[in-house]
Amino acid sequence: MSVLLAPSILSADFAALGEAIAAVERGGADLIHVDVMDGHFVPNITIGPPVVQAIKRIATVPLDVHLMITDPDRYIEAFANAGASMLSVHVEVLPHLHRTVHAIQALGAKAGAVINPSTPVIALEQIAPDLDYVLVMSVNPGFGGQTFIPRSESKVREVRALLDRCGNQAPVEIDGGIDQRTAGRVVGAGARILVAGSAIFHTPDPERATRELKATARAALSTAPATLTPGTR
Ligand code: DX5
Ligand code: ZN
Repeated sequence: MSVLLAPSILSADFAALGEAIAAVERGGADLIHVDVMDGHFVPNITIGPPVVQAIKRIATVPLDVHLMITDPDRYIEAFANAGASMLSVHVEVLPHLHRTVHAIQALGAKAGAVINPSTPVIALEQIAPDLDYVLVMSVNPGFGGQTFIPRSESKVREVRALLDRCGNQAPVEIDGGIDQRTAGRVVGAGARILVAGSAIFHTPDPERATRELKATARAALSTAPATLTPGTR
């Protein structure tokens, strides 16, 4: 597959979300990344299903909803009904991750599992064949604008290798500190969905920043090693 760019609206102006989304779509955004935070799993509080529903009315690309909440089982149906095409849940809060993943898929959304920087890749071993994507956090979740944790690069490689071992071509997504400096490195490691918040919205021209970051990611893809599974490039 190609490499997809998912601008995170967390760093956008919430008073002008419609224009923010239109701008990144003009710049070539493939997905809109929506960060849902509950003030428990992470210190911050952001948005809920009504806002996702409003975004769904105006967005022309699929919504990639990242649930940073302690009890995702209670809310996955509401977010799927609100228009989430992709729903990711953190393995750290889910003792019955298998059930949650299949519940998301039964609701018609793609199911992703997310791992925090301190969570080992082995936590995904049993669920890897069932996942539609894996999200590797390259910062501790909760806030935009944090610095990329360098070890995340090898973690992406590890997750890619795990998925390849079980014959799953599901993409690896990466979230946190992705910008012009880090995008190429993570694509080289095997990431195929790049989330970026501040690198896009904390610039004077989010449309242009989207276009330029996507170009950097795509350029890295063309030089990525051919050792990755066919279909993941
Ligand atoms: C962090 C969120 C991210 C955030 C990324 O908890 O999950 O999606 O918006 O922001 P940047 O790209 O600024 O690190
Ligand atoms: Zn996120």
